[in-house]
Amino acid sequence: MSTGEPSILAISGSLRPESLNTMLLRALGEFVPSTIRYEVVNDISALPFYDQRLEVDPPSSVLDLRSKVHEAHALILASPEYNYSYSGLLKNALEWLSRPVGSAVLEHKPVALLGAAPGLYGTVRAQAHLRQVLHGTNSVVLRRPEVYVNEASKKFDDTGKLIDPTARSLVEQLIHNLLSHLPENFEAA
Ligand SMILES: Cc1cc2nc3c(=O)[nH]c(=O)nc-3n(C[C@H](O)[C@H](O)[C@H](O)COP(=O)(O)O)c2cc1C
Repeated sequence: MSTGEPSILAISGSLRPESLNTMLLRALGEFVPSTIRYEVVNDISALPFYDQRLEVDPPSSVLDLRSKVHEAHALILASPEYNYSYSGLLKNALEWLSRPVGSAVLEHKPVALLGAAPGLYGTVRAQAHLRQVLHGTNSVVLRRPEVYVNEASKKFDDTGKLIDPTARSLVEQLIHNLLSHLPENFEAA
């Protein structure tokens, strides 16, 4: 169980500095109450490819990410859609975070999903796959709202602020719903 100050950890499934998904996660900061610590992890490439043999003595990159996720009261994941699924980079991280069975940091963790893509579908297929995997990890995935930021290049201003009214409203609702999974005394005033 997480302790300490209320916090939300966001993980991007993209490594690009100009990633739309990382930009979206950063833009979310505007919607998270100031009483809650909000951190965006934008580079999970230090994790080695998942190898079950390493479980006896996992590398520090794995222990660090597990510890961050353990400490966070909730998670937000945003991934690029690659070939109708989410990124292999994020899949690799989820494999590390899903072990050891029985005490994995993803178990019972509230998770909100969203995504951004330049195309018309806004990561709808990627998120469908992600939902299925997070069912397998026994995480508590928010069902609504579903947030697909399509044609995303048009939906931010030059500073990275989310400017599309529909996307803003959905993101606001998503954060609101996620906060309801935090311990009661941590909810926004
Ligand atoms: C290998 C590859 C596969 C892709 N497949 C899809 C896809 O199936 N659906 C889609 O909407 N966009 C697809 N795209 C375009 C990505 O959505 C686009 O590059 C997006 O900006 C990547 O996310 P990022 O900006 O967060 O890095 C693909 C891009 C790459 C490089």
